[in-house]
Amino acid sequence: MSTPAYSPGLEGIVAGETAICTVEGGLSYRGYAVGDLAEHCSFDEVAHLLLHGELPNAAQLKAFQTRVAAARRLPPPLKDLLAALPKWTVPLDALRTAVSALGHFDQDAADNSRDANLRKAERLLAQIPVVIADYYRVVKGLPEVQARQDLSHAANFLYMLRGGEATPQEVKALDVSLILYAEHEFNASTFAARVIVSTLSDLHSGITGAIGALKGPLHGGANEKVMDILQAAGAPEHAETWTRSALFRKERIMGFGHRVYKTGDVRAGILKAYARAAAEAAGETKWEDTADAIERVMAAEKNMFPNLDWPAGRLYHAMKLEIPLFTPIFAMSRVAGWSAHVIEQLDKNRLIRPRALYAGPAARAVTPLAHRA
Ligand code: CMC
Repeated sequence: MSTPAYSPGLEGIVAGETAICTVEGGLSYRGYAVGDLAEHCSFDEVAHLLLHGELPNAAQLKAFQTRVAAARRLPPPLKDLLAALPKWTVPLDALRTAVSALGHFDQDAADNSRDANLRKAERLLAQIPVVIADYYRVVKGLPEVQARQDLSHAANFLYMLRGGEATPQEVKALDVSLILYAEHEFNASTFAARVIVSTLSDLHSGITGAIGALKGPLHGGANEKVMDILQAAGAPEHAETWTRSALFRKERIMGFGHRVYKTGDVRAGILKAYARAAAEAAGETKWEDTADAIERVMAAEKNMFPNLDWPAGRLYHAMKLEIPLFTPIFAMSRVAGWSAHVIEQLDKNRLIRPRALYAGPAARAVTPLAHRA
């Protein structure tokens, strides 16, 4: 047997084919540049593109939104389960548990066909924001807010969370962030989902595993760390000194760096304008100015640039969303990409089973228990 190629963290390894997204020549979803999508489309249109392969026409969009809106409800036993979770359960963990539980209630649970997986994917897209909003309100002892059928993915989420309609500017900013978060080729959570379903497991198992992978601070969890960084830096005038000493201590500045993008992440540039506009609307631009100062040091000292989580964390904070909701919001968008990958993997499945480079003890004989020291 020949020795397989080895790259720690699979860096630079092509681990499969996809028609959903590429980072080559700038990030694009099914051929459309992400900046073009953010400028001209809604998240609902982009979710249709990812799941169904094409941007919808007006009638297709209406039909898609109607199907998704109709699925914006949870089985009552799941509501009881959410209410019964220990109150210290962070929202992302509650979401992971809820997605797993939703698999038990889905009428297509046992059907792994393409059509059934599309139906399940649309339902999960609808249910995830409901889980996040319901759990948020249950922990706070607030009454549940019924989903609205007439609102978009972003608008309905803000409505359910707050119990009142958001401004058009807030809806637009959240919507753009969801477009930018929706898909990203073979990132860790998507790859986890593909590994899971490559065993011919099911969509809910794949998405549950993906949420687990998303949680870590090197991936989706980074957006919840951004405000910690800014608060530790304190203020624009302290940011340079703080960043230099954090780098000296070899600390990671969460929201910077990327495994693939070494000269910057186009998504971060797009969302930065929305983060500043939201901060201005909230009357507090201190964190934007602090972020700018940190960016200057990171570019000069490390030749390192912000990723999408950097402006997303600031945008959500300026919108007065609580920090533990940030990674769940990432999930309520990325579920579109995850589901598209699950379906694509199953369309042309081959079990994902790589090899390992053995680094353990040399071959040795077992000493019977009675003779072991
Ligand atoms: N701050 C300071 N130093 C860093 C950072 C950072 N954010 N990221 C990497 N480095 C340093 C790292 O310490 C190492 O230095 P040295 O060579 O001196 O040991 C060097 O840069 C290379 O790091 P690496 O870990 O080998 O690089 P990677 O390609 O494996 O890492 C990364 C990619 C995203 C894990 C990393 O940049 C990181 O930890 N960033 C902070 C967490 C973060 O923002 N994650 C979000 C990623 S993108 C969107 C998403 O998935 O949500």
